[in-house]
Amino acid sequence: MDYKLQIAQSLHEHVFESLSLEDILGLLEKPKSVEHGDVAFPTFSLAKIFRKAPQQIAADLGEKISSPIVEKVEVVGPYLNFFLDKKFVSSTVLKEILTQQDNFGANNVGEGKNIPIDMSSPNIAKPISLGHLRSTVIGNALANIVEKMGYNPIKINHLGDWGTQFGKLMTAYKLWGSEEAVRENPIQELLKLYVKFHDEAEENPALEDDGREWFKKLEDGDEEAVELWKWFKAESMKEFNRIYDKLEITFDSFNGEAFYNDKMQEVVDLLEEKNLLTVDNGASIVDLEKYDLNPALIKKSDGATLYITRDLAAAIYRKRTYDFALSLYAVGNEQSNHFKQLKAVLKEMGYDWAEDMHHVPFGLITKDGKKLSTRKGKIVLLEEVLDDAVSVALKQIEAKNPDLENKETVANQVGIGAVVFHDLKNDRLNNFDFTIEEIVQFEGETGPYVQYSRARALSILRKADAGELSLDAAYALNDSYSWEVIKLIQEYPETVQRAFDKLEPSVIAKHAIHLAQAFNKYYANSRVLTEDAEKPARLALVQAVAILLKEDLRLLGVHSPDQM
Ligand code: ARG
Repeated sequence: MDYKLQIAQSLHEHVFESLSLEDILGLLEKPKSVEHGDVAFPTFSLAKIFRKAPQQIAADLGEKISSPIVEKVEVVGPYLNFFLDKKFVSSTVLKEILTQQDNFGANNVGEGKNIPIDMSSPNIAKPISLGHLRSTVIGNALANIVEKMGYNPIKINHLGDWGTQFGKLMTAYKLWGSEEAVRENPIQELLKLYVKFHDEAEENPALEDDGREWFKKLEDGDEEAVELWKWFKAESMKEFNRIYDKLEITFDSFNGEAFYNDKMQEVVDLLEEKNLLTVDNGASIVDLEKYDLNPALIKKSDGATLYITRDLAAAIYRKRTYDFALSLYAVGNEQSNHFKQLKAVLKEMGYDWAEDMHHVPFGLITKDGKKLSTRKGKIVLLEEVLDDAVSVALKQIEAKNPDLENKETVANQVGIGAVVFHDLKNDRLNNFDFTIEEIVQFEGETGPYVQYSRARALSILRKADAGELSLDAAYALNDSYSWEVIKLIQEYPETVQRAFDKLEPSVIAKHAIHLAQAFNKYYANSRVLTEDAEKPARLALVQAVAILLKEDLRLLGVHSPDQM
């Protein structure tokens, strides 16, 4: 039930000549404090039309409005404050969620249309960083959110498996590497070589030429270069997959940068045909001055292609393959300029669908307020973070619930869930810092707190021996604690919509936190298990909370252990 819509409709009957239903919906506000009711309508915009003071308009309208879901209307100055009928709303909403279960809040706006999501996309031969973790979990949550809106998400891991860095790496490997060492500890060893290359190249610039030559060999299909590349890639994939397994995140495609090698010539030809390429010092560029952007470098003077060249081919490929409604890129904020250029070039090429491409940027994970860098080799290894979180979770569980079965599984779900939840709970553009101890707490605004709240709801239901709740009963509640919970349940469809509109998983995470908090307050202040006429309604509320917390967590990619 959309009570805002119902209120808007009852208002519309009296002001239809002046405002459309959409206008009214847009004007409705959520009052800051509960004393002002559940929905407020400011009348300022009607003053001109009615040629009356807003206060007078509010007073006149207040007399006329009536709706079954409204218990009373209060006129406060220029505002109409609506107080909903708690019993009516709670029984309608609870019946709805108990019927629809985890489908509650879903819709079919997307009509099955495709939304490719470019996510994770780590670079071969380098450790997967905390930035890639962010891309992975944000992309995964977005996939779940768009799916709930009726779209078909396609999760694409645009692996960084091509580019001049492979030339540098090959140079370094040939000079200082050993096959044995790389086999034993691939990523660490390759990273070491990469760092060494940069250190040495500062003294000896000839190394850069050597690197360029190796990359050229790779692009030309030289056997040795290709063999090395395949090997580096296979070793890297082993490590990445270990992490994806821990996160339980899967992909629909691993078409990385190299996949577009045979698709770039077409892009270059198209650009030439449309007269968009200019030659500058031997390099081919697209001028983007009218977009207030630097020129996009498409081809270097030695013919080597670039990151953006592959992204152009990828964008066109995705449009052709998926005929997407939207195309999303969960990539760090520092690449904003790249994605602006990418869209601008596509627009210049005449592709209107470039408007449907959205860079979904996010901030950095910092350490003591500073950026973490791979270059210097001072990286925080993602896998260690995940493993630490799981062992802290295990300790907590052993202290709290020593007899719990499947402790290891639950610790995994809690530890990994804590990291994922923490990543998603802040507006994605914010930078953040964290310590494992802090985020694996069962109290505070954490993933484990939400998980724990749901497990608690289940344990209440077990104690009450609630079984299947009838769907025919009227679960009417009338107290202010349950009302806070009911409102959060009722708002869910709107919440999912907002998370989608803003491409912002934190909207869901915040909903989960608020719902868990409201539920714990409710439980502390009401005798849920007391035998009286209202008991089934209270249990229905507890059940609804369990359903919705689990669904919130599922959208974020976090498990909900039944006991913990
Ligand atoms: N591999 C890149 C990096 O780690 C991210 C790729 C993002 N996706 C894209 N289509 N450009 O910085």
